[in-house]
Amino acid sequence: MLEQIVEPLLIWYEKNKRSLPWREEPSPYHVWISEIMLQQTRVEAVKAYYARFIEALPEIKDLAECPEERLLKLWEGLGYYNRVKNMQKAAREVMELYNGKLPADYDKLLSLKGIGMYTAGAIGSIAFELQVPAVDGNVLRVLARLWGDDSDILKDKTKKAMGRRVMEFMPEDRPGDFNQALIELGATVCVPNGQPLCDQCPWDTVCKAYKEDLIDQLPVK
Ligand code: ADE
Repeated sequence: MLEQIVEPLLIWYEKNKRSLPWREEPSPYHVWISEIMLQQTRVEAVKAYYARFIEALPEIKDLAECPEERLLKLWEGLGYYNRVKNMQKAAREVMELYNGKLPADYDKLLSLKGIGMYTAGAIGSIAFELQVPAVDGNVLRVLARLWGDDSDILKDKTKKAMGRRVMEFMPEDRPGDFNQALIELGATVCVPNGQPLCDQCPWDTVCKAYKEDLIDQLPVK
């Protein structure tokens, strides 16, 4: 199963991954900012905000110390201002507790303001290569289709169960690429709106929804 699932996915990702600004230098801080911005805004729109934000506030210390007015100005257009306010609170915690560096520990990341399971998993795996799941709506859709799973993906129980199940496949040496490949597959092939591009999918021989013609029924929400 591993050969049929993990290897084709990683090979597909290497060939097809988009070149994105936060993938160039995936420091914990960069991954954190990009993931918070991407929770609410499309990739294409995030690029410009991301570039401006890290240019203005290149380090966690800069975020911690930034006057609120300037911070909100940098976020203007992205909306959900609580997200950036929480980021600043978390940055201050990181200055106090961790000497200005995000901790390489899933539970410590999770305890920071505004960092939930998905974001902790993304930072942990992409920036620190920790073996932790990063399951967002896109990844849930991909997995529900792969396994032909008709659980309600909006339920926390489903998210946790999928996270546990995906851990069985997590390659020891490349958790960051593995999680990003799942995210990328959901964003570019196993898309949320309209027909997925199953003829381009590395899982066309293993995907239960594809083989059993259940693409339109899955995921259930
Ligand atoms: N959507 C959410 N996280 C993402 C990431 N790291 N790369 C591309 N799209 C994403």
